[in-house]
Parts: sequence; C-alpha cells; structure tokens
Amino acid sequence: NRGKELFNKLYQDTQLTETEYKELLELHTDKEIAEYGFELARKRQKETFGNEVYTRGLIEISNYCKNDCIYCGIRRSNQNAERYRLSEEEILSCCESGYALGFRTFVLQGGEDGYYTDDLLEDLLHKIKAAYPDCAITLSLGERSRESYERLYTAGADRYLLRHETANEAHYGKIHPAEMSLKNRKQCLYTLKEIGYQVGCGIMVGSPYQTIDNLVEDLAFMKTFNPHMVGIGPFIPQKDTPFGEMEPGSLEMTLFLLAIIRLMLPKVLLPATTALGTIHSRGRELGILAGGNVVMPNLSPVKVRKKYALYDNKICTGEEAAECRGCLGNRMESIGYKLVVSRGDSPFI
Ligand code: SAM
Ligand code: FES
Repeated sequence: NRGKELFNKLYQDTQLTETEYKELLELHTDKEIAEYGFELARKRQKETFGNEVYTRGLIEISNYCKNDCIYCGIRRSNQNAERYRLSEEEILSCCESGYALGFRTFVLQGGEDGYYTDDLLEDLLHKIKAAYPDCAITLSLGERSRESYERLYTAGADRYLLRHETANEAHYGKIHPAEMSLKNRKQCLYTLKEIGYQVGCGIMVGSPYQTIDNLVEDLAFMKTFNPHMVGIGPFIPQKDTPFGEMEPGSLEMTLFLLAIIRLMLPKVLLPATTALGTIHSRGRELGILAGGNVVMPNLSPVKVRKKYALYDNKICTGEEAAECRGCLGNRMESIGYKLVVSRGDSPFI
C-alpha cells in the first residue's frame, strides 16, 4: 500500500520529497491510509507530550483591522462588522478569570488595529507579567516592524502567531489585496524568530484557489522555517466577504495535514483549532487524535464573542470561559487525553 509506505517513510525520515508529498496528499480521502497516518502521528505526539494537551486562553482584543484579506470577516471593507476593542481593564480581567481556570498561556489576538501602539502594549504586557509571572504571553497581532516586535518581546511577550497563509506568491495574491505581500509576511516570521520568540506559522486548509501543489509548498516552507508552532484550520466562508459563497475546507484534508505536520516536525506545538471544531462537532477531538497537542478555548468576554466573526457559525460564542474549559476537559478525557495546567512551552526552548 503506497500511502502507508509514504507515511512510514515520513515517520522514519521526518520528510518526503515534494513529489512524495503530492502523492500522499492525493490519497487524503482514503480512510484506511488516513487512519494509518493518524496512528503514526499519535505515536510521535506521545513520545514528546504523552497524553497531555496544552491549553491557551484566547483573548480577542479587537476586530478593527487596517487590512482587507479577502477571506476574513473582520476585513476593513466589511461594513457589517460591528467593531469593538477591549480596554486594558477588560483584558486584565480576562486573564484573571483565565488564571483561575488553570490557563498559563494567554493569547492576545486581534486585527491590525493602530489603537494598540507599542507604548500601550508594553504597558499591558508589563501588567500581565507582573500579575501572572508564571504565565506565557502569545501575541497574534499581524505584521509589525522589527522595532515593534523587539519592544514587545522585551516587555514580556514570549510567543508570536503569524500564519503565512500560503507559501505560494500567486496564491497569496489571489486571497489578499495587492497592497499586501507574502515577502513581508515571511520576513516578519524570520524577524520574530531571530528576536527570540517562539514562533508559529500556518495556513487555512481549503482556502479559495488552493491546490495540492500549494499545500506541498506550504509543507516545504514549514520544514525549512522549522517553527515552534503551526496553526492550521479549515477555511470557512464568511457571508459578508467576497468569498462568502466558496466551499469550506474539508475535515479530511485538515486532519491529514495535521498528521503530516506532526510527523514532519515531531515536537511542534500543534493546535486542534476552533475552525476545526466548527466544521465538525468532534473536530477538536479528531484533531488531537490526528497528532495535535494544543487547544485554544476562548476567554474573550461573551459580549464581544459574536463580533470577532472571522467566519460563519463559529462555535463557543455564547459560552463563558469556564464552560469552554469544562467542555474541552470532558472532550479530551473522552479520547484518553487530559488538559494540563502548564505554560506548555516549545520543547526547543
Ligand atoms: N491579524 C492577525 C493576523 O493577521 O495574523 C491575527 C488575526 S487573523 C483574523 C487570524 C487568522 O484567522 C488568520 O491568520 C487566518 O488564517 C484566520 N482566518 C481569517 N479568516 C478566516 C476564515 N474565513 N476561515 C478560517 N480562518 C480564517
Ligand atoms: Fe466552548 Fe465546548 S469548548 S462550549
């Protein structure tokens, strides 16, 4: 069986040639091959992480954005988005409830919102670190200058999530406005790594016009960049965007890629994302069973959750943080894993 042979090779060598990746990806709908890949991915995952799943408390600080990514529900030209931003007090209060629930990593994510200047963020980072010195802070605030990234790192940020979205120039151009560039995005990733952040890149699976060849390029980029974290989830259309009527990414391809990424980067931090939980009721469990080792429940105040609408039908927009924590705890236990109280740093630092 060629699929199993390729998975065995990936398990042994932690890489394949581009032709082999393509061959393997084309087999993603074959259930037997996929199941075999998940099994190997779980084996790899357990060598480093056992049955422990790391949690990160996601705080969606703002849905204002100066960018106009065509797929994204909070793009600047979406007139229907009800804009909000959280104050420093609101963010600190999310951290407080999160800490009590056992979160030791807070992820501050938002659109590219000029309101959050370096001065403001430095002050905020100092306050979070002073109140919770045993916690890690991850930022996911898009493309900023080297100077800005340096200041935020010095102020206490530990990690940065910046999906590259696609490693192919032409594909990047089809899903972003002309003013944005893949070159700059990749440059940001290299800068972040140089500064000392634990860095995450990643893609949307099944984004409009994505081909198998694009995915092969994404895998090659990930292998070369060697990130500490990889964030992947299915593309899901948002009705107020030009891609509102496009097909969502598939569960099968997302899980298949999770397994490949686990085998390619054995110690990478790999979340089973909210988007995966949105396209399938057990998406996050299946993501862990395909090699993931992180979940990122929402800690944002319930009153803003529906407004951070990157895509339609997002789950957990009505639940309080405690409910999500409890729910995910049960979900992980149902598949033999447990959520741990830990910063969950990359094994490479
Ligand atoms: N502004 C920051 C940035 O660009 O990295 C962080 C926020 S941005 C909304 C976070 C991620 O959401 C993006 O990297 C993208 O992959 C994902 N995203 C946006 N629209 C999406 C959609 N329609 N379906 C699935 N994921 C989406
Ligand atoms: Fe939010 Fe299940 S994780 S309700």
